[in-house]
Amino acid sequence: MKKIEAIIQPFKLDEVKEALFGAGVDGITISEVRGHGRQKGHKEVYRGQEYQVDLLPKIKLELVVPEARAAEIIGVLTKSARSGKIGDGKIFVYEVAEAIRIRNDERGEAAL
Ligand SMILES: Nc1ncnc2c1ncn2[C@@H]1O[C@H](COP(=O)(O)OP(=O)(O)OP(=O)(O)O)[C@@H](O)[C@H]1O
Ligand SMILES: [Mg+2]
Repeated sequence: MKKIEAIIQPFKLDEVKEALFGAGVDGITISEVRGHGRQKGHKEVYRGQEYQVDLLPKIKLELVVPEARAAEIIGVLTKSARSGKIGDGKIFVYEVAEAIRIRNDERGEAAL
């Protein structure tokens, strides 16, 4: 199993969610976060306005997916989250040691 963590532009959330659900993704965790990439201290546009601040609002998506589906889902994410401008975000991929469905103790990919 892989954990895919994607930091995306807030205005892309609906499009990304639709693309992921279209690809058959089941579980997802979404949080509102703030961050910056390598343009720290430089101007970045958010909702049509230019900001000169350290930390901009972003959305973090976390999904744990079967190993065999990871590459495809990463492709769906990059395609739907990309505007082509700076600040589009980043994807980090982790190995997952175990998953457990609390309701019934199912484990591994059966628990996803
Ligand atoms: N190395 C990193 N570690 C953790 N979070 C990061 C890292 N790089 C970017 N992020 C997160 O992703 C968000 C978007 O980053 P961003 O797309 O601006 O990256 P970038 O490297 O500056 O690329 P670009 O040149 O396309 O803007 C940041 O606001 C931050 O929340
Ligand atoms: Mg940046």
